[in-house]
Amino acid sequence: MKIAVLYGGTSAERDVSLLTGKGIMSALQKKGHEVIGIDFNPNKISELLSLNVDLVFIGLHGRFGEDGRIQGLLDMLNIPYVGSGVLGSALAMNKVKAKRILEKAGMRVAKDQTLNNETFNRDEFKLQLEFPVVVKPVREGSTIGLTIAYNEEELLEGIEKAFQHDEDILIEEFIKGMEVTVAVWGKKGDEQALPVIEIVPKNKYYDYEAKYAPGMSEHIIPARVSAETYEYLQKNAVLAHQALELKTYSRTDFIVPDDGSLPVVLEVNTLPGMTPTSLFPDAAREAGYSYEDMIERLIELTLK
Ligand code: DAL
Ligand code: MG
Repeated sequence: MKIAVLYGGTSAERDVSLLTGKGIMSALQKKGHEVIGIDFNPNKISELLSLNVDLVFIGLHGRFGEDGRIQGLLDMLNIPYVGSGVLGSALAMNKVKAKRILEKAGMRVAKDQTLNNETFNRDEFKLQLEFPVVVKPVREGSTIGLTIAYNEEELLEGIEKAFQHDEDILIEEFIKGMEVTVAVWGKKGDEQALPVIEIVPKNKYYDYEAKYAPGMSEHIIPARVSAETYEYLQKNAVLAHQALELKTYSRTDFIVPDDGSLPVVLEVNTLPGMTPTSLFPDAAREAGYSYEDMIERLIELTLK
């Protein structure tokens, strides 16, 4: 099959995407496909069209890649692609919209407060949550622009930092607990959850370095939670996938609180990282799929 892999791009997660793209391309080549890699931006549209590929594998992350815009373009060009469509991608990329939908679907989400750059007034701002809080851009990935604030000063710094990445930001109560993630894949209506991964970062939390510097975090599979919680996480990852109208694959991040209360859903990734330190490939491996077989299965799920 002739497959174009779109990678790189212009988002803040460009470097992550370079690694994801490399992994996907090498897997596709090993499986005998004709692979064309494109470091994608609007100037590459005519090149993509002229290639006449059978399929696009989107290896982009973040804005323009994971937020529905590329998906809309590919729909218009009538080129099939792996993963979620316009609506699901756009919803999942926006952490606030996604939370509202997931809450409606019965999941627990962190209490929050949202701010917009145009209406934000530093002097009149009042935090409606208790410290510590997490400050993050609404549409960003890989913890870019994220701060855990323990006091007013850190909060204001965090707000400023997050506004550098997005005009909308989210402040959430910080929930102390175990970070876990659940990969989901399958045909619409018949999605399966892969084994639950517990993330043990060497840093204070699972930040950018812990995510991508080899050895800076440990993935424990299966996660060390009760059988009941394990089942809850898998069920709710599938529920999140379906509630956000996602397709083929996704990965949902949760916190399992230390106080034994219900797991809290953090976010859903529609183009999960496929780098050497990424989580989706580890979950698939645990389920018996090598990296190459995992990529091939995603193609089969897309085309069959
Ligand atoms: N946003 C990164 C790529 C992930 O969730 O894996
Ligand atoms: Mg993410």
